[in-house]
Amino acid sequence: MSNYHIKHLEEYYQVYRKSVQEPEKFWEEIAEEHFLWQKRWDEVLSWDFAKPEIKWFDGAELNITENCIDRHLATRSDKTAILFEPNDPNDPTEHITYKQLHERVNKMANVLKSQGISKGDRVCIYLPMIPELAISILACARIGAIHSVIFAGFSATAIASRVNDSDCKLVITSDGSYRGAKTIDLKGIVDEALESCPGVHTSLVVKRINSDVSMKAGRDKWLQPLLDEASNTCEIEIMKAEDPLFILYTSGSTGQPKGMVHTTAGYMVYTAYSFKNVFQYKENDVYWCTADIGWITGHSYIVYGPLLNGATTVMFEGVPSYPDFGRFWDIVQKHKVTQFYTAPTAIRALARQGTELVNEYDLSSLKVLGSVGEPINEEAWHWYNDNVGKNKSPIVDTWWQTETGGIMITPIPFVTPTKPTYATLPFIGIQPTLMSESGEELMDNQVEGKLCIKFPWPSMARTIWANHKRYEETYFSTYKNKYFTGDGALRDEVGYYRITGRVDDVIIVSGHNLGTAPIEDAINEHPAVAESAVVGFPHEVKGNALYGYVTLKDTGESRNQENLQKEINQIITEHIGPIAKLDKIQFTDGLPKTRSGKIMRRILRKIASKDTGDLGDTSTLQNPEIVKDIMDNVV
Ligand code: PRX
Repeated sequence: MSNYHIKHLEEYYQVYRKSVQEPEKFWEEIAEEHFLWQKRWDEVLSWDFAKPEIKWFDGAELNITENCIDRHLATRSDKTAILFEPNDPNDPTEHITYKQLHERVNKMANVLKSQGISKGDRVCIYLPMIPELAISILACARIGAIHSVIFAGFSATAIASRVNDSDCKLVITSDGSYRGAKTIDLKGIVDEALESCPGVHTSLVVKRINSDVSMKAGRDKWLQPLLDEASNTCEIEIMKAEDPLFILYTSGSTGQPKGMVHTTAGYMVYTAYSFKNVFQYKENDVYWCTADIGWITGHSYIVYGPLLNGATTVMFEGVPSYPDFGRFWDIVQKHKVTQFYTAPTAIRALARQGTELVNEYDLSSLKVLGSVGEPINEEAWHWYNDNVGKNKSPIVDTWWQTETGGIMITPIPFVTPTKPTYATLPFIGIQPTLMSESGEELMDNQVEGKLCIKFPWPSMARTIWANHKRYEETYFSTYKNKYFTGDGALRDEVGYYRITGRVDDVIIVSGHNLGTAPIEDAINEHPAVAESAVVGFPHEVKGNALYGYVTLKDTGESRNQENLQKEINQIITEHIGPIAKLDKIQFTDGLPKTRSGKIMRRILRKIASKDTGDLGDTSTLQNPEIVKDIMDNVV
């Protein structure tokens, strides 16, 4: 049906118009024709952004894993569902067929049940990029448990706060992980976290690196023997459309990370539909998204979106630089990858290696290239286009967020003419708008403003776990009746959108969302630190890197600044993880503040970016003299 698979620009406009003029009718048709439902919905959509309350397909009953797996068994049982490419290129690739995935998910689901997990319970998953990660997610969904995946680069403290926030009962982890030439002691990190997680009764451990780990009696269990005993059939749990499917934490501009809650039916319909169109997926394609499943990109476009379409999805355990910077291209060549979806930070890192390696491999299987996570700069865009896509594979620069569940603004390949650095047009059903500083909607083209969405879409997060008020305040209170994204954007003369970056205190480093507040809290834990402010500055590979301004307590002692810097980064690593380490630290006698005591981050951002041409009026600051002092000592 044409609505489901858009093939040319006119059709895009037609379908788009329908999707905004009659959204209920539009999504109802998609839902009816492409999914299995145990019970039909009573109402397609009800919504109120003031409360906020959003319901899609209310009254319907379903299980998303029946849609991801069971329904493909009749026609695709021997087709590869997950193609696992291990860290070490000399280890064999694993092809998990839909039939095998069905069995493995059922077994895992039965193990979870045997450990007392049932519908509505929260399960934390802290695993490397191995098949058990996808299988655990699906096993939770099969029995109605709510999965909360924590990226396996987060520290013990970060795990503990997330596990406690959503009161997880069980954790799934591994004895360790491979990362290029290194191994990481995931079990040790989890053990440390669980010391402060009284609600966790069980920790299931996957054996991956065969390391010698300690197992706490009564709590820790090796997964494999339990799987060996488990039955390979497990009935689906019947879920309501709006039952939570998962929680995924994302950074906010203030406070603790937000546990975004995604629900079942709308998320399923939107991720399936967007996957099909944004990647122009066809039956025998081999699709590869290089993200980690610990982030939303992996949830929606490694696991759910592809499997809902019966696709073959590649899961890569390793890193782009191991054993050398040709690894990505080696995998594309080896598996004849057709769609390749990665992040600008990876493209920049690979571009730095030149073109020799990329030219060594046969990349002719590629049809579509994707980019996600941060704005892609023009240079990276061209490098990607010329050297990977050979000027024949369109680049889809997909803008979206953990909160949006699915891709929101994007070209459709072979349909939307692309334009470097532009995410281009709203995807079907998405109604973006730009708001002025004074809160008016900017109706014209060639304007820049704050990016909002005016109308609900099926995969939007419904709440923040245990904090609905924060959900309302963060996303729906800045502009009445609009979802505020936290991003700035401009719209060009033909209506294309270009995302200009965050307009709040969230910094995107290597495509990872980092809130400044938790990093500053960590720095302030250091006994010598009085106060700190963290800002972003442009970085050639990471997009942005972190710059910390730190004032020290006046103890009269002299201190070794080099050691202090190391200690501060050590504390950040312990509290959050190595991704939040500061690239630069400047010790200063004070921070510029308004008369009401607010730190003037705008000024600090400019100084860190060495963009001090126009600092604005600093005379009204509490301490204007500090600005010059900071500028003179910039790192
Ligand atoms: O600032 C935008 C940026 O990443 C933020 C969302 O981060 P996260 O929730 O971690 O999800 C990332 C993967 C979907 C956005 O608010 N961002 C994401 N994609 C793009 C982008 N900025 C510019 N262009 C993009 N294509």
